[in-house]
Amino acid sequence: MSLDLVIANGLVATASDTFSCDVGISGGRIVSLGHALGPATETIDASGKLVLPGGIDSHVHIAQPSGDGIVMADDFESGTRSAAFGGNTTVLPFCMQEKDQPLRRTLEEYHAKARGKCYTDVAFHLVISDPTDQVLGQDLPALIEDGYTSFKVFMTYEGLALDDRQMLEVMSVARETGALVMVHAENYDAIRFLTDRLERAGKTAPRFHGTSRPVPVEREATHRAISLAELIDVPVMIVHVSNREARDEITRARSRGLKVYGETCPQYLVLTEADMDGLNMEGAKYVCSPPPRDHDSQIACWEGLQNGAFQVFSSDHCPFRYDDPAGKLNPKGRTSFRWVPNGIPGVETRLPILFSEGVGKGRITLNEFVALSATNHAKIYGLSKKGSIAIGMDADIAIWDPEREMTISQSVLHHGSDYTPYEGIKVKGWPVTTIVRGRVVVRDGALEAATPHGEHVARDRSAYAVP
Ligand code: URP
Ligand code: ZN
Ligand code: ZN
Repeated sequence: MSLDLVIANGLVATASDTFSCDVGISGGRIVSLGHALGPATETIDASGKLVLPGGIDSHVHIAQPSGDGIVMADDFESGTRSAAFGGNTTVLPFCMQEKDQPLRRTLEEYHAKARGKCYTDVAFHLVISDPTDQVLGQDLPALIEDGYTSFKVFMTYEGLALDDRQMLEVMSVARETGALVMVHAENYDAIRFLTDRLERAGKTAPRFHGTSRPVPVEREATHRAISLAELIDVPVMIVHVSNREARDEITRARSRGLKVYGETCPQYLVLTEADMDGLNMEGAKYVCSPPPRDHDSQIACWEGLQNGAFQVFSSDHCPFRYDDPAGKLNPKGRTSFRWVPNGIPGVETRLPILFSEGVGKGRITLNEFVALSATNHAKIYGLSKKGSIAIGMDADIAIWDPEREMTISQSVLHHGSDYTPYEGIKVKGWPVTTIVRGRVVVRDGALEAATPHGEHVARDRSAYAVP
């Protein structure tokens, strides 16, 4: 068979195995694995390189309306370009339900923003913020049927937080339809109480963002989310877990046989609360929720990745510009941490940080890296043709130079934000070439794709969501 592309002489790793072989690609799919695969239109020599499944980042925010004059720093073009430079081939952004607008219409607006602009493949999660009878009875089940098989609910944030009864109602829909529920677990009332008290005491600097949502706020909500899911007998994914106590809630639930899954993110491995302590407003660059914690929390998150409490490692890329009235330094944000938009950029740095700090420092194996960065995301979120290097799978591949040393810096990144919270972190190992469904998007660190060819992927039900 004549092949479109052969990736030759590399060391291939999947979630289970590591082996030397060439990868033959035709029609956007992996069609052969072996040696001397035959004639190909193009051959990439991957000698000395790792050939890995392209990263799947199952938690990113792109072009999401953020209210109050705040504008997200990435549209689909810059966000997915940045993702591709970071070794990713698929990202899963959120389609946030707008009150008083049919969910499907909102989703169509996201598709319109993404169409023709994506350098990686894209699959949307939904966010349910207003679970009306219409949404629960008609709109959500229909969209799940159409391949939007996961949705996120928030236990905090003005205009987004669901109460416990609403949580039970949306979880019941997931139970009936086989969708996967993702939960942002923080106690809204506790945060409001603590925020008001801090403001009354004049404690309004960015660092008090951390004080306003301490560990018990996250632990309690994690426990409550798990308990509600247990009542409905439905699997649940606790996203962006930041600390030991929330992690232990997941571990305990799993040891009782509950289908509870966990996600952590780079900010909880390499940042701490002290980063929000910068001069003037500099700390705003690190404001995200849950906030980065302390050194013990970092250890706990590493342990969670090592011992299976967490199945996925995502970026929670939620980019705002810093020096911008529509970003972190918006006029209200200068008056109190309460108004600093929550979220930090990270889609391009997620994998180099995990590779260098994880594989490079012996905390996880290369195969665990693949599982945490790609394979588990595909399985959990129903991307059945993605996340592995095997015959028949989409040819979504990242070629890594494991020896390449880089210092993370805004100047080397491609996102729309004007800073990176990971500035100055030294890493060893970098994705140099990214291939999406057989087409080279980034080659040797330079953008190759003249036009974006990423597509939306309708997803299957999660294998993990079947109760
Ligand atoms: O601060 C964060 N994480 N912002 C993004 C929205 C979310 O809760 O995931
Ligand atoms: Zn969240
Ligand atoms: Zn998020």
